[in-house]
Amino acid sequence: MVTQNIMSAPPPSGNGNASPATIPYRPVAGQRAAAAERRKAFPYRFPRDGRLLGGKFTVAENARRLQRYFYFERRLMQGLGAWTLSIPEFEVKLETGRHIFYHGDAARGLRERLSEQELRLKDIDAFRDPEIDLLLEEFLSAADAPELLAGLHQVLGRALTTAYQHHIDDTDPVTDVPTIRCLRRILADYEPMLAWANAALAAYVEGGVDESRLAAWRWHLQRLLASVGGVTGTDPRTEAPTPLRCTAKPFERGTVPLRDVRFDTFHNTGDYDVADGGERFPKDSYEALRLRFIRTQRDEVDAIEAFGTFIWDIRFRDFQAEYDLARITWDEARHTEIGHRALLAAGYDPFELRNRLTGSTCRGPMEPAFAMAEINLFGEVGVLKTINQLIDAAADRRDELLRHISDFIRSDERTHVRKGGHIIRVMTDLDAKDLEQRTRELFTECLVSLGAVQKDMDVFTVTREDIERLVGE
Ligand SMILES: [Fe+2]
Ligand SMILES: [Fe+2]
Repeated sequence: MVTQNIMSAPPPSGNGNASPATIPYRPVAGQRAAAAERRKAFPYRFPRDGRLLGGKFTVAENARRLQRYFYFERRLMQGLGAWTLSIPEFEVKLETGRHIFYHGDAARGLRERLSEQELRLKDIDAFRDPEIDLLLEEFLSAADAPELLAGLHQVLGRALTTAYQHHIDDTDPVTDVPTIRCLRRILADYEPMLAWANAALAAYVEGGVDESRLAAWRWHLQRLLASVGGVTGTDPRTEAPTPLRCTAKPFERGTVPLRDVRFDTFHNTGDYDVADGGERFPKDSYEALRLRFIRTQRDEVDAIEAFGTFIWDIRFRDFQAEYDLARITWDEARHTEIGHRALLAAGYDPFELRNRLTGSTCRGPMEPAFAMAEINLFGEVGVLKTINQLIDAAADRRDELLRHISDFIRSDERTHVRKGGHIIRVMTDLDAKDLEQRTRELFTECLVSLGAVQKDMDVFTVTREDIERLVGE
């Protein structure tokens, strides 16, 4: 038996001073020569894997760092959500909808890896860091969208990129390769995101935004980040800058939906024909339904605001709900883009068509459960009630543009309705009937105050169908 030989094999010659940490070499007579013979018979020369064992981190230190990255990403998803109403520029609002999901998805990947590094999901989600919270509050206290981008992308985004890159370089490329893969995938989103932010800030400066104001803000935030030891918390700490805006005035999210000067907006009605002062096409004609659908998609710029705001409003209640909202926010940015492009393809300058702010104006200051019930249970469910006929009508008329976009939008909205159930349960304990009733009352109040419906009775609540029609989605 081979085992007998192992026991009796002599120690390898010439290493009598081997350190106790070295595993002693114990050959079995003939095995090494036999292995060499077998190797000669193996014809394939596969690429050599040059990765070396070894890295700077233990599992515990790896997890400590990843937990901070997770927290930064989660807070960035929430923080950008808080700003969705307050960004006026169309392109910036849309990109921010996309970036919210990039950060949410980065958090999701890190959370999964953390759950493989001896941590439980419950504890990963419960992690808080008051220093990072203060830092984020200061970043969110930007005076306007250019300052927000300069801080979150050019200071924090850039610092996170460097930290991830260093982590990839420093951790063990063999034992910890799942972390490396996770960080590389995050960086694949970061690269276009930061490149876009740089280009957007250049556009703001070219258009007249004071560059020195942005530079001063960036410098202030860089010093604040250094004062908490940087992204990993291990850099030498410097003194925090004073004063902080967020200690003078705590950050609060905006409640009013802002648009840039290219838009002509209205919120006194939900009806495009009323807003336009007349019909473009006969009511209920295919052409009228088609244009209404495309305009509604473009006007889903308000859905970016709704879902983004919800992430902030329910922050830390449930990671899955935050993540689903982040994904829906991105989808709504996509619907807005689809609408914008479809209007162009239909021969319009998208900005010649007035932008409906009715829904967002009502939802902006509202508690998330009721705003969510309105947009998800009424708006998105409402879309699904009519979209099948629209797709069929488009197919009958060989209207490939409308058939194509509504086909994809239908699948997205079905997904949103499906995810909505869990999100609403996280937002409220009210049962479905009470939630619908209270939502209708609140929207009646709001629509009356905007003049979108007339209050002609003492007791009056708009129907679910009225909300679907007036607010749209
Ligand atoms: Fe949508
Ligand atoms: Fe949707």
